[in-house]
Amino acid sequence: MAGSAAASAFTPLTIGPLRLRNRFIKSATNEGMAKGGMVTKGLAKFHENVAAGGAALTTVAYCATSRDGRTFVDQATLDDAAIADFRVLTDGVHRHGGAAMAQLTHAGAFTFLDKTQLAASRPLSASGGFNKIGVMNNRWLKKAMNKAEMADMAAEFAAAAVRAREAGFDAVELHMGHGYLLSQFVSPFYNRRWDGYGGSIEKRMRFPTEVLGRVLDAVGKDLAVVAKYSMTDGKEGGNTIEDGVAIARALEAGGAHMAVLSNGLNVESITAMFGSSFPKSNRGKPANLAIAIGMWVQSFTEPQNVVFRENYLRDHALRIRAAVKMPLAYLGGVQSLAGVETAMTDGFEAIALGRALVHDPGFVNALQAGTTNQSGCTACNRCVTMMYSPGGTSCVIKSPNEAALNRVAAGALA
Ligand SMILES: Cc1cc2nc3c(=O)[nH]c(=O)nc-3n(C[C@H](O)[C@H](O)[C@H](O)COP(=O)(O)O)c2cc1C
Ligand code: SF4
Repeated sequence: MAGSAAASAFTPLTIGPLRLRNRFIKSATNEGMAKGGMVTKGLAKFHENVAAGGAALTTVAYCATSRDGRTFVDQATLDDAAIADFRVLTDGVHRHGGAAMAQLTHAGAFTFLDKTQLAASRPLSASGGFNKIGVMNNRWLKKAMNKAEMADMAAEFAAAAVRAREAGFDAVELHMGHGYLLSQFVSPFYNRRWDGYGGSIEKRMRFPTEVLGRVLDAVGKDLAVVAKYSMTDGKEGGNTIEDGVAIARALEAGGAHMAVLSNGLNVESITAMFGSSFPKSNRGKPANLAIAIGMWVQSFTEPQNVVFRENYLRDHALRIRAAVKMPLAYLGGVQSLAGVETAMTDGFEAIALGRALVHDPGFVNALQAGTTNQSGCTACNRCVTMMYSPGGTSCVIKSPNEAALNRVAAGALA
């Protein structure tokens, strides 16, 4: 490997104020280990294992900016009460020389919380009216955010980032993709506004960029501030790669320290996100009926014949690479040393790995040591449903996680 482009993936990288020991980032994979919203020993152990396995930066998926910002009840909120337990998690990551990134997310209308769990009478979104996601949990209507609510929301993201810093995180990732609240502003599927926050892609990016600015002002000198977004919406009528380029330009102009290049939306185009079809047999297992029905419906609407290919988002990502100079993390199907070599040769500063590190958190060390050059992950996507299991997200061809650890707070003595 010495002297190859792949070797450069094992050299340090600076993003904003953060220096990373190498260019490998564990991308957010909803862990399903914050049962009842608690930051647990299981969640802390999951990320400690990633750091011990060699990745420079591990992303804690879906840290809600407020309790109303959750999609599921089993997601942690970055509120004051969670700081001590998050601190245990970040300490564990730091012990192994890694860094930790909190993925700051608000669900907007993409929430499965029922009426007893969601304080707002209607979930907030870019535009109001019929909420297709709410059909199954009696949340038929969503509310278009007004200027005051948008200002409050930007402050909410900034406050969550400040708590992330208190909890020992080294970076925050603003989730602007996949159909969550900020993505609902970016995507024409959700944004039908006529004011200065809707219409062209530049206007649809205005609120997400304002949030980015507030977070940079609050923590940008101390933490890396990263944005994850969908390069395309993966479906006709949604954002195209030209929009994806415009989004990258807006993030660059807004001062983001790095962008993580994802694709697709949870509801409309999940296959575009994963680059391989979901097996029908994998649908409908979650206990939450609304989610189970949603997955069942998707098994008819999503293409069934998409065959995984390594670096499947490469063509889109190269368009973004050609348009901006800001640091970019290539994401999407890196499963081998050859995939690493391609991403580095293509000029990306970092490589984000999802399933390869769910399959084996030690994959980065193994690549560096030369004990493997190919992940054993088959891109079957069955780990996605595992997030609803008692043990949380794990690879189905490995042992499940210890469910008991997901019922104990990370900072509990025993
Ligand atoms: C089990 C699972 C859960 C995921 N949850 C999230 C999430 O919470 N937030 C997010 O931004 N992406 C999530 N993703 C998407 C991954 O971050 C990544 O974009 C996707 O897996 C493609 O990368 P890969 O080919 O390296 O796996 C999830 C992926 C998996 C497999
Ligand atoms: S279940 Fe395992 S093999 Fe299948 S996609 Fe997930 S990590 Fe890869």
